[in-house]
Amino acid sequence: MDLAEIYRVNSLSILDVSRLLTRQCCRGRTRELTVSKTLTLPNDRATFALGRWLGQHLAAGTVLLLKGDLGSGKTTLTKGLGEGLGIAEEIDSPTFTLINEYVGDRLPLYHVDLYRLESADTDRLFLESYWEGIEYPPGIVAIEWAERLRYLPPASLEVRLTYQHPEGRKGVLIPGNSAQTRLLEELTPDAILAHEV
Ligand SMILES: Nc1ncnc2c1ncn2[C@@H]1O[C@H](COP(=O)(O)OP(=O)(O)OP(=O)(O)O)[C@@H](O)[C@H]1O
Ligand SMILES: [Mg+2]
Repeated sequence: MDLAEIYRVNSLSILDVSRLLTRQCCRGRTRELTVSKTLTLPNDRATFALGRWLGQHLAAGTVLLLKGDLGSGKTTLTKGLGEGLGIAEEIDSPTFTLINEYVGDRLPLYHVDLYRLESADTDRLFLESYWEGIEYPPGIVAIEWAERLRYLPPASLEVRLTYQHPEGRKGVLIPGNSAQTRLLEELTPDAILAHEV
């Protein structure tokens, strides 16, 4: 059964919902600052497919802040990201190694997992080396348990994964700059499913 069929059978869809998150009033006017995208991910293949789409489209130097409870799908999304970046190697959670580096056909992937660290210790990883583009070639930096970071990378794309009842996950993507906002406008169910059908 392909992904499109799974969506049909379950009467579920990737909701193409752009939601206004933040408004700021200045001199009586309302300015739209951040537009998020909400997706329903009925199974792990949908989480993987979302990651793959991001891997195919994100710009070099993008930092993905992956947030969500234990088992919410952060590593699954990163595995899809790896496929989208053209990484042949198996992507495993770097829970013990903290950081894994992969070379991809499109871009490198730097996969970080902060689960075992206290917030105060995350400063000592010098993660900025991965997005400054000096020490390491610019790639995609995917950070699991990004809630633990004390200092946020500039213009990062936040992905919040939450459990849905009775199954599946919800993904909320919050862009960190206008290029990401424009990219998320292209994040449609058809686009994500393109490689499944
Ligand atoms: N949309 C989904 N619906 C149902 N199950 C899913 C979905 N996405 C991922 N899963 C499943 O959830 C389980 C946990 O996934 P994963 O290891 O990616 O989570 P995680 O957030 O990285 O966990 P941890 O917090 O331990 O790092 C896996 O069995 C995976 O197949
Ligand atoms: Mg994980």
